[in-house]
Amino acid sequence: MAEHVTAPKPASESRLVLHQLMLPEHANAHGNVHGGVILRMVDEAGAICAMRHARMPCVTIAIDSMTFRQPVHLGELLICTATVTWVGKSSIEVGVNVHSENPISGVVSHTNSAFVVYVALGEDGRPSSAPGLALTTDEARAAFAAGAARQAHRIAQR
Ligand SMILES: CC(C)(COP(=O)(O)OP(=O)(O)OC[C@H]1O[C@@H](n2cnc3c(N)ncnc32)[C@H](O)[C@@H]1OP(=O)(O)O)[C@@H](O)C(=O)NCCC(=O)NCCS
Repeated sequence: MAEHVTAPKPASESRLVLHQLMLPEHANAHGNVHGGVILRMVDEAGAICAMRHARMPCVTIAIDSMTFRQPVHLGELLICTATVTWVGKSSIEVGVNVHSENPISGVVSHTNSAFVVYVALGEDGRPSSAPGLALTTDEARAAFAAGAARQAHRIAQR
């Protein structure tokens, strides 16, 4: 695996918030937002966040199970907040929180959360070491430990 000597970076450097207005083209047969639209935006937010951390191309290798707690309605904003939670060598776990916001009333609902794992790729298209994660807060240290446990579980399930 190619090695990059880069100083660890805090999650604040790559954290990302994506907003998108939900329109009729995003609807399912029931008139709410299609789950696939939400999944796609989760993956996009996570991938951009991972690439901002690594400053390398990153591909999705695993998406943990997702539960949709609330429907998202047309006319609402879908908001994905992505944060790097754990980094191995080439693998980067990103936590994505999904909210919907009614832009008229201002009511915000938590729709779902997901953890997605990306792999940083070198110029040869093979996995390449990503910068480490600088753990500057107790919250970041706790998130990192939880991410390490989730990754061990994913690898055990392969
Ligand atoms: C990503 C890819 C290049 C990795 O190649 P590979 O030969 O499997 O690489 P490795 O076995 O060395 O694994 C690379 C990393 O992924 C991790 N990994 C492998 N399987 C995993 C899984 N199921 N869940 C989480 N992480 C996993 C490994 O632990 C390793 O992490 P580390 O470098 O931090 O130790 C290859 O699997 C691939 O091309 N997958 C398709 C990606 C894709 O098309 N995604 C959808 C569109 S973006």
